[in-house]
Amino acid sequence: MVTEKVEIMETLIRDWEGEYVVSRFDRKTGTMMFIAIHSTVLGVPSGGTRLKSYAHPSEALRDAMRLAHGMTQKFAVIDFPRGGAKAVLSVPEDFDPDDREGLMLRYGQWLADLRGVFETGPDLGTSPADMALIARHFSGVFGLPVDAGGAGDSGPDTALGVFCGIQASCEHYFGSADLAGRTVLVQGAGAVGEPLIRLLLEAGCEVKFSDIDPVRVAKVGQELGLQFVEPEAVYREPCDILAPCAGGGILNAETIPQLACHIVAGAANNQLDKPEDGERLCQRNVLYAPDYVINAGGAIFLLTVEGSGWAVTRARERVRKIGDTMKEIYAHSEEHGISPARAAERIAIERLRRGVSAKQWNR
Ligand code: PHE
Repeated sequence: MVTEKVEIMETLIRDWEGEYVVSRFDRKTGTMMFIAIHSTVLGVPSGGTRLKSYAHPSEALRDAMRLAHGMTQKFAVIDFPRGGAKAVLSVPEDFDPDDREGLMLRYGQWLADLRGVFETGPDLGTSPADMALIARHFSGVFGLPVDAGGAGDSGPDTALGVFCGIQASCEHYFGSADLAGRTVLVQGAGAVGEPLIRLLLEAGCEVKFSDIDPVRVAKVGQELGLQFVEPEAVYREPCDILAPCAGGGILNAETIPQLACHIVAGAANNQLDKPEDGERLCQRNVLYAPDYVINAGGAIFLLTVEGSGWAVTRARERVRKIGDTMKEIYAHSEEHGISPARAAERIAIERLRRGVSAKQWNR
């Protein structure tokens, strides 16, 4: 059994099309830490740091590698001069919150030891407060709290980009970007899901939500009075738009046949379990907004405001342009008779082949 798992990890690394993986074991907390460097072609490999418990380190490694690939594609599609990478801190199931500070400090020290081969920001399970701890040892970290001179929580800006992407998706699918009266089911009411719900409500949508965390279910249910959908019923719940804003791999051979929506457009990374799931969605006539395009708002916001000193208003205007990028992808997909997932992938590959251009991102 153990050898089997080791073999899985070896195979994962050998078969990966990315550049390299570094890992370190944090003995004090029993945390396996992985940094997957997918591509240095467009610039310094960058990506969020995810903190999560996994059944086995091989799953954490797999997640890091797939997420890193997504970051390469994310930066390539928007022509942003950064490479793709991701870090995963695979904490034990019984991880003690009191150990968090120490873990973040040691992780920050490790990043400093690696001398900037990887730069990072928040992701699922980490916050601006964590980034401030990492920043004590390492300067290549984004998403610091506002009172520490950072841009703060990027959740609302990721949500803004997703919102604009949903408008563009509706324009493509229904012929109108007006969201009033559209039914949207938001899966995960966390750092991105909750601000997205608020934007959708303001636009006149009928919003339903789902979450696996009882605290969030109670909070969102009470504050916003939304209809709650049981997590296991999400895929078959009728709606116009399903907005996945939680974990990855949720669009697969089992869930796609159940879908009762017209559009899937949300913030979660790696929504497609396998590349062929993009084709499966197409065959079911469900319009899929490639995740790494529609969810680029957080990265755009943090890397321009903190990395390049842009004013918040300017960064936000750029985040809104995700809607235009989505339209380009849908147009490319129609023109070439391929799925939006394939269209986005082709655009990313083309940009990587061409190398750094980044005219629009100067200063
Ligand atoms: N983790 C977020 C993402 O996947 C945001 C982020 C990326 C922040 C890279 C900083 C650097 O897009």
